[in-house]
Amino acid sequence: MKIACLPGDGIGPEIMDEALRVLIALDMPQVTVDRALVGGAAYHQHGHPLPDATLTLCKEADGILFGAVGDPTCDNLERSLRPEQAILGLRRELGLFANLRPAQCFTGLEHLSGLRPEIAGSIDLLIVRELNGDVYFGEKAMRTTADGRREGYDIMSYAEDEVRRIAHVAFRAAQGRAKEGERGKLCSVDKANVLETSQLWRDVVIETAEDYPDVELTHMYVDNASMQLVREPGQFDTVVTGNLFGDILSDQASMCVGSIGLLASASLGADDTEFGTRGLYEPIHGSAPDIAGKGKANPMAMILSLAMLLRHSLGQEAAAVRIEDAVAKTLADGIRGGDLGGDAGTKAIGDAVLERL
Ligand code: IPM
Ligand code: MG
Repeated sequence: MKIACLPGDGIGPEIMDEALRVLIALDMPQVTVDRALVGGAAYHQHGHPLPDATLTLCKEADGILFGAVGDPTCDNLERSLRPEQAILGLRRELGLFANLRPAQCFTGLEHLSGLRPEIAGSIDLLIVRELNGDVYFGEKAMRTTADGRREGYDIMSYAEDEVRRIAHVAFRAAQGRAKEGERGKLCSVDKANVLETSQLWRDVVIETAEDYPDVELTHMYVDNASMQLVREPGQFDTVVTGNLFGDILSDQASMCVGSIGLLASASLGADDTEFGTRGLYEPIHGSAPDIAGKGKANPMAMILSLAMLLRHSLGQEAAAVRIEDAVAKTLADGIRGGDLGGDAGTKAIGDAVLERL
C-alpha cells in the first residue's frame, strides 16, 4: 500500500512530521511512504507548484497525504504558478470529485466555539462538497471591454452527470450515517431561486433521490443554510453542495465547532484501487504562514486526515479508529494548542497523541 506524502508550505511540513510519527507507531509494514514537493515549496525548487514527478507519484499511490499550500512570496506570480493551483490540479487530474468534510464538536470543547456551548455541542454533520466543477473550473478570464473597462469573469456550470455522481456519494454517506432504525438525512444546498446551474443541480438531486427511499431529502438556499448553520446547526446531518458554496460553508462549519485546526477532509474519486477508493486527505485549514516554523501549529487535523486515509483508501478501519480515539482522548485530557486557547506546541501534541495511541 503506497502513500504519497506532500507536506507543502507553511506549517505543512511540521504537522506532517507528527502524522508520520503516528503512522510509524502503528507499525504497518505493508505501507510505504514517498515524499514529494508541492505548492510554493515545489515552485521555488522546480519552477512549478505541481511538478510532473509529484503528479506521477500521486497517480501511482493508493492514498495521498497532503499538508497545506499557500505562500505569500508567490502572491504576485501569474495564477497558473501560484501554490493553490497544485491542489486544484491534483483534484482535477486525479478525478477527485467528492470532498467529505465532517464537522463535529469534540466533548469538552463546546465552550471554545463562537456559538453558545449547547448549540455547538449539537454539531455533528458532514459536508459533501463537489470538487471538480462549478465556477472553479469554468472558463475564466480578465479582459478589457470595448469601452475600455477591465472585467473579470468565471463561468459557473454543472453538467447533469457531474451532479448525479456527487449526489450518489452524498446519499450513500447519509445512509451510512443514519441512526439505527431511522432514515438518513440529506440537505442539498443551492441557489435555485437565482441560478440555472442550481436549478439543474436541484432537479438532478431530486431524480437521484428515487434510488434512496431510506434517505429524507430536503433543499435549502445557500444564504439560508449559512444562517441556519449558526442558528441551529444540530438540524443538519449530511449536506451536499457545489464547489464554491461548499468551500464557504465548510470553513464556517469548522469555526462553529471551535477550531479549524481540528478538521480533516477526504477528496475521493471513483472506486478504483485494490484497497478502496483512491483519495487525497488534507486538513481543512491552510498553510498559516504567520506561525510557520515556530512549532505552534496544532497537528490534529493532519493526524485525523491520516485516519481518514487509512479508512477510505487502505481499508484499515481499526487503525483509523485508534487514531481518532487517541486524538479525542488527548483533547478530553485538556492538552490543547494555541488555536484552542491552550499552550501545547506541535511536538507536545504529537507526543500526547502517541502516548494515548
Ligand atoms: C479549500 C481551499 C482551496 C479551495 C484553495 C486553497 C484553492 O480553500 O480546500 O477549501 O478553494 O478549494
Ligand atoms: Mg476553503
